[in-house]
Parts: sequence; structure tokens; C-alpha cells
Amino acid sequence: MLRLLLLITSVSAFAPATFGILRPSSLHAADPMQKPLTPTDYMAVGLACCFAMNDNGKLNEAWIFEPLTAGSLETIEHGIETSYKQVMALAAEDFFEGDLNEPTGIKIQNLQALGEGYEVSLCDNVIERSLAASRTFRRREEAKSLEFNEMSDEYNFSVERKRILNHVVEVNDADNVKQDMSIDVYGREEEGEGEDLKNQIEALEAA
Ligand SMILES: *[C@@H]1O[C@H](CO)[C@@H](O)[C@H](O)[C@H]1NC(C)=O
Repeated sequence: MLRLLLLITSVSAFAPATFGILRPSSLHAADPMQKPLTPTDYMAVGLACCFAMNDNGKLNEAWIFEPLTAGSLETIEHGIETSYKQVMALAAEDFFEGDLNEPTGIKIQNLQALGEGYEVSLCDNVIERSLAASRTFRRREEAKSLEFNEMSDEYNFSVERKRILNHVVEVNDADNVKQDMSIDVYGREEEGEGEDLKNQIEALEAA
């Protein structure tokens, strides 16, 4: 069991003042799901154990980082069996590279502790999915079970139900990963798992 508070050393530039400048994205910002991210928006990133077929047709473990929605984080906090080994929470500014309205990459170095000891890839469409996942926490304060830079493995990890990836491109570089390098590492199982989580939650609620 591990619940660890990590020190993030990245120095984030002081947010420039925007006097007199109305960003286009703030024009349609009434819906919390549409508002641009702010530096302290919540990101939960999971280390998930998936599987990929090797050349000999054998399934090998393939670990990925992927963003969790508020619903997913709440679900695994409830002890539902999932492929998530551990989870780390980050402020959006420590997760995304570049302008939060239009991130250019992921600050992989800030996820080092989460992936320590594993060969990890980024999930497919990581930027788009992360932006969307982060916004789900705006309506679910109670889902923020980890503090920023806190990591936990107190979850019900299981690979009994295997998530299969189409193919995997390793991201071993400690450098930031640019969007054009983020790759189709994500399999069709995702929808299935989402559905599965929903079903399990419903089962729990009905119990
Ligand atoms: C993990 O999930 C399984 C299946 O639902 C359950 O039997 C088991 O008790 C859970 N373990 C923990 C530690 O919650």
C-alpha cells in the first residue's frame, strides 16, 4: 500500500496578465465543460496494465498512462477491479505542455514517479482525452480523492479482464512528448471497459 506525496520541480511561468484581451474561447464559456482549463484544474492520471500482441501472437503486458474521469476515479476508489495499478493527481499546469487552451504535449517528466519501474506508453489521443477528463472534475469536487502530486496504489488491480491494445509505440524518452508523437496505442477495449465500469457501478448501487 502506498500513498505518496511527490514534489514536482517544474517551474511554471507566472501566468501572464490578460488585461483587455478577450480570448475567443472565453466567449462561449458559460458551460463548465466548455471553459478553458486553468492552471489548477484537476488531472488524475492512471497507470493501466493493458496487453499487446507480439510478433509471435503472444500477449505481452503493455503499460499505459491514461487520464481518468471523475467517474472512473470514484469507481476505482470504491474497490472495483480494474486495470489501474496506480493513480497520480496533477494540476493541469504540471500535466500539459504549452497553452492550456491548446496544449502541445504532456510533461512526461512529471509522471516519472507514476511509471517508475514500468515501460509506459501514452494512451491514444492523450491530449484531447485529458482535456475532457479534467473538466469532469469541475462538477465532482468530491471525486478529487488525491491531492495534487499525490500518488496511490490502494486500488483493486486486476488483469483478469484483459484490455488489448491494437499496437504500442514505446515512449521511453524523458523529454516532453509532442502531440504529433502521441500515437495510436489505444485499443477498442476502452469503450468496453467504460461500459463495464458503469455496469459495475450500477450493480453496486443496486446492491
Ligand atoms: C476486488 O474485487 C473483487 C471482485 O469484485 C472482490 O472480490 C475483492 O474483494 C476486491 N478486493 C478488494 C481488496 O476490494
